[in-house]
Amino acid sequence: MCGIVGYIGNKNAFDYLIKGLERLEYRGYDSAGVALLDEELKVYKTQGKVKDLVHVVQDQNIQGSLGIGHTRWATHGAPNYANAHPHISQSGSLAMIHNGIIENYATIKKALENRGRTFASDTDTEVLLQLIEEIQEKNGVELYEAVRLALNEVIGAYAIVLIDQKNPNILIGAKKGSPLVVGIGQNKGEYFIASDATPIIEYTRQVSYLEDEEIVIIEKGELSIKTLENVEKTPFIQELSISLEAIEKGGYEHFMLKEIFEQPTSISNSLRGRFSPTELRFAMSSLIEYEDKIKNLKRIIIVACGTSWHSGLIGEYLIEDFARLPVEVEYASEFRYRNPIITEDDLVIAISQSGETADTLAALELAKSKGATIYGICNVVGSSIARLTDAGAYTHAGPEIGVASTKAFTAQVSVLTLLSLGLAQIRGAIGTQKLREMLSGLEVIPKQVESLLKECDNLCREISEKYHEASNFLYLGRGYNFPIALEGALKLKEISYIHAEGYPAAEMKHGPIALIDENMPIIVIATKRGHYEKIVSNIQEIKARNGVVIAIVSKGDNEVKALADFAIEIPDVEDALVPLLSIIPLQLISYYIAVLRGCNVDQPRNLAKSVTVE
Ligand code: AGP
Ligand code: GLU
Repeated sequence: MCGIVGYIGNKNAFDYLIKGLERLEYRGYDSAGVALLDEELKVYKTQGKVKDLVHVVQDQNIQGSLGIGHTRWATHGAPNYANAHPHISQSGSLAMIHNGIIENYATIKKALENRGRTFASDTDTEVLLQLIEEIQEKNGVELYEAVRLALNEVIGAYAIVLIDQKNPNILIGAKKGSPLVVGIGQNKGEYFIASDATPIIEYTRQVSYLEDEEIVIIEKGELSIKTLENVEKTPFIQELSISLEAIEKGGYEHFMLKEIFEQPTSISNSLRGRFSPTELRFAMSSLIEYEDKIKNLKRIIIVACGTSWHSGLIGEYLIEDFARLPVEVEYASEFRYRNPIITEDDLVIAISQSGETADTLAALELAKSKGATIYGICNVVGSSIARLTDAGAYTHAGPEIGVASTKAFTAQVSVLTLLSLGLAQIRGAIGTQKLREMLSGLEVIPKQVESLLKECDNLCREISEKYHEASNFLYLGRGYNFPIALEGALKLKEISYIHAEGYPAAEMKHGPIALIDENMPIIVIATKRGHYEKIVSNIQEIKARNGVVIAIVSKGDNEVKALADFAIEIPDVEDALVPLLSIIPLQLISYYIAVLRGCNVDQPRNLAKSVTVE
């Protein structure tokens, strides 16, 4: 994971680096560090967060118009000072930051040690750095050439940036698997480089995303790109469209809360212009371009991780329900390693907020190599998955900074709902009346989310106050609400560290029922249209064992309300549209519980927003 940032220009790099690291901190926060080159190369680093780094260096006058910075999510070596980046080469001349994993680091390290190199850290990063320096010294080649030769020897994923004390006019970056973007500054000779565009947009909108196995060399104010095979490439410069406000907190205490409350807009942006509920028409380019393929599709496979996997599960229910096409939903990490059957008639859909998740990317590469058509549902424009796919639909949720995914999830579900209906129309699997009902229902979802947020906020706080000290939670749902039970449990455990499990409500009898006692809150999603009678029986079974029930019910429900300890009402909508509403109170409850427990909501321990390592 890790966030990396670099600056070369005429100004002092320090402020750019610190601000950039703060924006990238969602990628990891085990340690933070910067290296600046003025007359000499100086490194400042610390275990902990960017604010700790700022504290450590507060009395120092840090100068240098060339610098690199890193915020780490440790993969190799403990999250301590020695393993914090930037790393320095044995001679003290090179400084490097890295995002990714060098898989064959142990073999290279051993060989380097046998040739007399010593190491100051346990990281794979330092191994690559020492290899670069050894090649530079032994072969007497320029830094670029040493980087190129070294990268030809490594296996794994990397985005790296290096500076060299011996050459204060050069900054070199390279990538494979992990993302790297270069910003072309407004002042002559000024460039930025980072893991994503957030540290850059304040200064320039002109950017170039590096492709895998490309090396960028910024030397004496000029930018050039070469491949690992030493072939010169013309940089592809594009204009960024995200705004600065979109990546700031805007008065909310946490990004997560801001993002929860942004959902009326993010859902609306994900749907806007893509369908007409009156003309029953879809304006998604992928549906139009692939119409013939869609008619002949035999199967869809969805690959994703975490929250995106949960939206994939809703996608399965939607597509099978409306388009009558078989769908399999796979954890990307399992799919890529289990020799799956993939044919040219398959459509493989990858769902990913970041568009950088290593397992999802690799699963997609595998599907592509087997001839399947690959489709991306990503939030980050220009991300690796978005660039790899044959077709796709962006979710348009805007930047999601909180590590716990909220608005990206509902944006994914919105796009999947549209997609399922579009597929259904092309394949003639849905009647006009049903399509009209669904599209009209979908159109008003953003407004319903807006009212729901206002209506249920206080009750969610009250419930959180009552149960925030519980050590276990169970989430139950059926049909479309089963993935919501999984997602609700994931939200709670990742930010509040409370053990929580999501289960299909009927499965409760096959095991989890043994856990029920008066101390365990059970969140049951019991909306009117989804197997209501069955879920009422499940609630009865819980109450018969003195369990605490917090129910999510449809407006006007009386039966479940009478049984439950707390009931949160949501609008009574089509069964297939319920997930876009039933998730809202669960997001709020996780948020308030985490705040009450004093947890770091936006940066929960051990997690990172963008999982670029497998
Ligand atoms: C969500 O709250 C999690 N932090 C995590 O499960 C996430 O959804 C997963 O890592 C997948 O990320 P992606 O959507 O960027 O691929
Ligand atoms: N492997 C490097 C380390 O452990 C970088 C980690 C990462 O990108 O997540 O320091």
